[in-house]
Amino acid sequence: MSAKYPEGTRLFVEDRLKRYFPEMRYPEVIYQAMHHSLFSGGKRFRGVLVVEAARTLGQEPDYVGATACAVEYIHTYSLIHDDLPSIDNDDLRRGQPTCHVVFGEDIAILAGDALYSEAFNIISSEQKADDPSKIIQVIRELAAASGAAGMVGGQVVDLMSEGKEINTRTLEFIHEKKTGELIRASVRAGAILAGASLRELELLTAYAKCLGLAFQITDDVLDVIGDTAVLGKATGSDESRGKATYPGLFGIEGAKEMAKTMTDRAKDVLRELNGDGRVLADLADFVYEREL
Ligand code: IPE
Ligand code: IPE
Ligand code: MG
Ligand code: MG
Ligand code: MG
Repeated sequence: MSAKYPEGTRLFVEDRLKRYFPEMRYPEVIYQAMHHSLFSGGKRFRGVLVVEAARTLGQEPDYVGATACAVEYIHTYSLIHDDLPSIDNDDLRRGQPTCHVVFGEDIAILAGDALYSEAFNIISSEQKADDPSKIIQVIRELAAASGAAGMVGGQVVDLMSEGKEINTRTLEFIHEKKTGELIRASVRAGAILAGASLRELELLTAYAKCLGLAFQITDDVLDVIGDTAVLGKATGSDESRGKATYPGLFGIEGAKEMAKTMTDRAKDVLRELNGDGRVLADLADFVYEREL
C-alpha cells in the first residue's frame, strides 16, 4: 500500500476480523451482506490505530485484537449507510458494488445495524483487560464517538450542507465529527487498554485529532484528484452532490497544505511521548501521502 503503512498490522487486523466473524446461520442473507462489505478490502486504518497506539505504550497486538476488530465493524457499518441512496448514493465501495446494490436497500440498512451491534458484542465478550472498568470506558468512547454527538452528528451536518455555502467552522465540524471522532476513539481505545497514563492519553488524543481531520481532508482531495481504480470508489461524487469539502473551500493546493499542517502537528505531539512513536508518525505521513 505504502512503505509507511504497517502491513503486518493490517494483516493482523484482517486475521482477527475473520476470526470473530459470526457463524453464518438463518437468515443467511444478513451474514452474507455483512461479509460482503467487511471483506471486500479496506485499509483497516482504524483497527491498525488501535493496535499501534497500544503497542506504542508497550501492549501486544494480540491483547487488543477484539477492539481493533470492533472499530472496523463500526467503520464498515458507517460506510454501508453512507453509500445508501438517501445519503451519498454511491454504487462502488472497496472495488465492489455497494451493499445496497447487491442486497437491496432494506438488507443494507440492516447489515449496517447488525455490524454496529456486533461491534459491541465482540468487545464485551472477547476483549480482555486487567481492570474491567477499562472495557466499559472503551465501550463508552466508541459509542459516544459514533452517535449523535460524534459520527452521526457529522453525517447529519454533511447532508444539511449539501449545495450550500458553509463557513470554515462548519466544515471543520463536519470533518471532525463524521470521520475524526472514530479515529480519535480508536487511538484512545488502544491507549486505554494499554494502561495509558493521563498525560499519555492526552498526547495521543491530540495526535489523533490532527490525524482525523487530515484523514478526511485527504479523502476530499482524493475525491477530486484520485484514481477510482486505486480508491475502489467513484471520484467526483462530492462535486456532483454539492458536498462541503476542503478543496471546495480552499482549492486542492490549499486543502493539501492544511492536511500537511495537521499531520506535521500530529508528529510534533508524538515527540513529547515517552516510547517509540515511529509507527504512529509513519501513519501520520501515510495520511498525508496516501493515494488510497
Ligand atoms: C473512507 O474511509 C470513509 C471516510 C471516513 C473518509 P477509509 O478510507 O478508511 O476506507 P477503507 O476502510 O480503507 O475502505
Ligand atoms: C464518510 O465521508 C464519513 C463516514 C462514512 C462516516 P465520505 O462520504 O466522504 O466517505 P466516502 O468518500 O464515501 O468514503
Ligand atoms: Mg458521506
Ligand atoms: Mg460517501
Ligand atoms: Mg469522501
